[in-house]
Amino acid sequence: MIYGLIMTDDRVPQRRNLVTEIPGPASRQLLARRERSVARGVGTMLPVFVADAGGGVIVDADGNSLIDFGAGIAVVSVGNAAPRVSARVAEQAARFTHTCFMVTPYEGYVEVCEELARRTPGAHEKRSALFNSGAEAVENAVKIARHATRRQAVIAFDHGYHGRTNLTMALTAKNMPYKDKFGPFAGEIYRVPMAYPLRWPGGPEACKANALNIVKSLIHTQVGEDNVAAVIIEPIQGEGGFVVPPDGFLPGLADFCREHRIVFIADEVQTGFCRTGDWFACEHEGVVPDLITTAKGIAGGLPLGGVTGRADIMDSVHVGGLGGTYGGNPVACAAALGAIETMAAEDLAGRAGRIGEVMLPRLHKLAETYPVIADVRGRGAMLAIEMTRPGTLNPDPATTSAVARACHQAGLVTLTCGTFGNVIRFLPPLVIGEDLLDEGLSILEDAFASVCG
Ligand SMILES: Cc1ncc(COP(=O)(O)O)c(C=O)c1O
Repeated sequence: MIYGLIMTDDRVPQRRNLVTEIPGPASRQLLARRERSVARGVGTMLPVFVADAGGGVIVDADGNSLIDFGAGIAVVSVGNAAPRVSARVAEQAARFTHTCFMVTPYEGYVEVCEELARRTPGAHEKRSALFNSGAEAVENAVKIARHATRRQAVIAFDHGYHGRTNLTMALTAKNMPYKDKFGPFAGEIYRVPMAYPLRWPGGPEACKANALNIVKSLIHTQVGEDNVAAVIIEPIQGEGGFVVPPDGFLPGLADFCREHRIVFIADEVQTGFCRTGDWFACEHEGVVPDLITTAKGIAGGLPLGGVTGRADIMDSVHVGGLGGTYGGNPVACAAALGAIETMAAEDLAGRAGRIGEVMLPRLHKLAETYPVIADVRGRGAMLAIEMTRPGTLNPDPATTSAVARACHQAGLVTLTCGTFGNVIRFLPPLVIGEDLLDEGLSILEDAFASVCG
């Protein structure tokens, strides 16, 4: 059953099928070649080499078909090689592949910016600028906020992740593997505690009651509100462990920013484009950011990032102050228009909500069975479980990776994350069939039974 809708072509059968061990001989050969030619610093979570992919299935070089609960880290929300994306990309690639929007512009870029204005929260007048990645979008959002406010300080959060470029490494909280020995980092970044209910001293209730006041007080005493250009936050933290702040935290933060003319940047690179059950995660609490950064899900797998925001803030930057050779590449824009069309036509926000309805009860049941699961959290199709030593908050990354490995061996692509490496996250393509979703959850249950049983 695939929710009664056509969501993918029939090119890749939507079923799991293992014909070798994981990784199989062909993947192992490629891995050996990779080790001789690709830099070691580029890691790999599951070393099966991909030959084909579609909908919720990845086919490897040995002919194994795996269920995809990762979507290339929340990118192929519309499914891999989604028909509307592939068709538009092929058509665009056959016409022109690059002129540079800063030299001779083209309509696709403008259309994507129009879509961003239409889909992002808030009815105010907006402008967008397009880039190549999430990190580039975040860098530019900070540039724009500093330019607009003529202030320099930027507030970022514990457990936050914003990318791997120099400025975004400075914004990112976690040292290993993202920052270690890569400094010096960009200046004027100040880190404050994240409202992390499980780990807040005193627990979730104390988190709800105190987190916002503590953040505001730290900004006041250690930075000074009128030195702050921007506060940047992921509405649900991604790499840091799918941390969902308590209701009221984001709206309170946005109010604080408004009061002090601080630019509120929502980094929706991972949460955006239907992932959490709304087009954007900020919508869940009616938060309207001044600037919003997007990438990942926007273009169905092609590299594209964007900054969208209030026209006065965006247009404060002088002509030529923003851009880059490839930003808003025409083929990536065509892919984005295909992805956005797919999301609207197939109600993928609704589909993300449905995925959450299917997955959450089974994840909660797992947590009742295995006390190593300290928390089940997330929203829509952005869900996670956090593992600790039972009855404590001491992270258990060993069990986490053992469970993830058992899933991989059984043909389920799962990802881990979290500051302490003790979170398994689930980011299936939003077009995944309910049968595959069920099967993937059964594999996860078996993995727990074999590792913790
Ligand atoms: C919230 C968030 N911001 C920024 C980034 C960086 O995006 P990219 O890897 O496209 O540079 C990521 C990537 O995981 C992310 O999750």
